[in-house]
Amino acid sequence: MSLLKDWPARATAEPEDVGVNPTTSEPFVAIAGRRLSRRLFLAGASGLAVSLSSPAQVRADADASDSTLTYRSLPIQLSVDQAVAQGYRADVLIRWGDPVLGGAPSWAVERQSADAQARQFGYNNDFIAYLPLEGSRRGLLHVNHEYCEGVMMFPGWTVESRTAEQARIEMAAMGGSLLEIEQSDTGLWRVVPQSPLARRITASTPMTLSGPAAGHRRLRTHADPEGRRVLGTLNNCAGGTTPWGTVLMAEENFNYYFDAPANAPETAAWRRYGLAERARYPLSLAEERFDLAREPNEANRFGWVVEYDPRDPNSTPTKRTALGRFKHEGATCVLNGDGRVVVYSGDDERFDYLYRFVSTGRYDAGGPGGAGDLLDAGILSVAVFDDDGLVWRPLIFGEGPLTPENGFRDQGDVLIEARRAADLIGATPMDRPEDVAVDSRTGRVFVMLTNNNRRGADRLNPANPYVENLHGHVLDLTPPQASWGPDHAAERFGWDVFVKAGPPSVANLAPTYHPDNQAWFASPDNAAFDPQGRLWVSTDRGGDQQRDNAPDGLFGCDISGPGRALFKMLYAAPVDAELTGQEFTPDGRTVFVAVQHPGEGDGSTCDTPSTRWPDFDPSTPPRPSVVAVRRADGEPIGN
Ligand code: FEO
Ligand code: CA
Ligand code: CA
Ligand code: CA
Repeated sequence: MSLLKDWPARATAEPEDVGVNPTTSEPFVAIAGRRLSRRLFLAGASGLAVSLSSPAQVRADADASDSTLTYRSLPIQLSVDQAVAQGYRADVLIRWGDPVLGGAPSWAVERQSADAQARQFGYNNDFIAYLPLEGSRRGLLHVNHEYCEGVMMFPGWTVESRTAEQARIEMAAMGGSLLEIEQSDTGLWRVVPQSPLARRITASTPMTLSGPAAGHRRLRTHADPEGRRVLGTLNNCAGGTTPWGTVLMAEENFNYYFDAPANAPETAAWRRYGLAERARYPLSLAEERFDLAREPNEANRFGWVVEYDPRDPNSTPTKRTALGRFKHEGATCVLNGDGRVVVYSGDDERFDYLYRFVSTGRYDAGGPGGAGDLLDAGILSVAVFDDDGLVWRPLIFGEGPLTPENGFRDQGDVLIEARRAADLIGATPMDRPEDVAVDSRTGRVFVMLTNNNRRGADRLNPANPYVENLHGHVLDLTPPQASWGPDHAAERFGWDVFVKAGPPSVANLAPTYHPDNQAWFASPDNAAFDPQGRLWVSTDRGGDQQRDNAPDGLFGCDISGPGRALFKMLYAAPVDAELTGQEFTPDGRTVFVAVQHPGEGDGSTCDTPSTRWPDFDPSTPPRPSVVAVRRADGEPIGN
């Protein structure tokens, strides 16, 4: 998620996701703006980046480096278009507004409605999960839609003129899309039209609350006096998939949608989660429940991890309260060797925490009926780092400070106020923990710390040792070995800094890439492994892109051996987009990426964006889209 800097409502909300933008004598944005607008007119209608060359040429062009990745890194430079390494191609699979459900009307920017949007692909795509139907050629693709930005979606939009219908469109454009996709003999992916499995999940979809906080007094509302049924999901950032084939959608910046008054009984709890008196994206325009003066518990029903079964179009999504309530960046699920299920999740805010859930029950892959409610019972812990290791400290009602004296009456309170519980436990304040990726070969756990411009010398800790961490770092956690292999449920892990990111040219920055590194990056956000155990990082740099003439993109590297931390850029997103969602097919021959908020720069609007990717139609704003990246010769990516 990236936030426009000059947003009028900014002062009312605590931005979690803001890059630092120190002034320079000649702001790059001015130069880039001129250059990009010229390029904009030169660019043809695109949506396809292709750099064709023969396999032999690919190998010949690959430099002799220590990396197992053979492609030549892209140059670091901004463009109104996407770019992909030589020998690869990048094809747009689906754009904001394209049909998902049967009967979806064709999209046009001046013809938007909530009813249409609820059948069309949503806005600001993020997490992607590929769920095979026929191996790596046909599958289900789940895509999260994180947030909406009216100024980029609606012509002539202003804060003052926003309407209830626009708020309803935004509610319909968040959540998730489930697509059936297939690959043709030529390698091109397409969305299967009218698939019976296709689905839209929105901010209005009925869901259940389950686990220890379900039915809690602080989850009950006028519409739901039992506290067990909630309408919709908000701000779905990254996510995960489970061993039993369900999808986990993480609710991140849910605070932006509610008006949260001062001097109410819950005000202090709301403020700990960044809820402000006036919502940044006021859905109270559309529905009263988003006004907490009227419905004080509604916000407690968001900030969870949602699980749903993509193979049953009628399944009811479930908010799994045992995983805690915070700004879940993602929900990375691992099956531990002893059968317990482990979910890692960062809370993306400066000085917030890294969490881990371990199920009580064990998953039996051969058992009947999937996993049922395995995510409803277990221990939620938070990471405490020291020089020697990291300890996972459990958040259990009645233990340590989590008692009535501190305002916790039961485990439901602990989970609803997981942040405050973790404060009291002494969790290590992190530099905005985003996605987590686990290497299935070694069990190593990689955590993206995106940046923190407020750390300061007085708040350093072993795992966050940089005074002004403008560019982020990546932690490499090591679970101990048990008889079955890495023990993700262990109390104590080892840890190391895998890389400190940032541009090498800046004095005193001292990033820690491989000495022969080919592509620097900053603000690591999402992470994934390919089938060969290589780490792929995507980035979210916000306004720093324009300052440094450096786009967000997809960067691969080895995690061990001579190519350790030798990054190469495979894909560059168009200007002002962040890159999210990277997901490999099981054969490693396609990686899907989600291009989020293209053209959403300072001063950009729906009418005057910094790019009109991917359509490059003068009457169409930029459209967040999912892109399929492949090698032109069809071989596995990176080889
Ligand atoms: Fe939605 Fe933390 O990125
Ligand atoms: Ca981010
Ligand atoms: Ca993210
Ligand atoms: Ca991810």
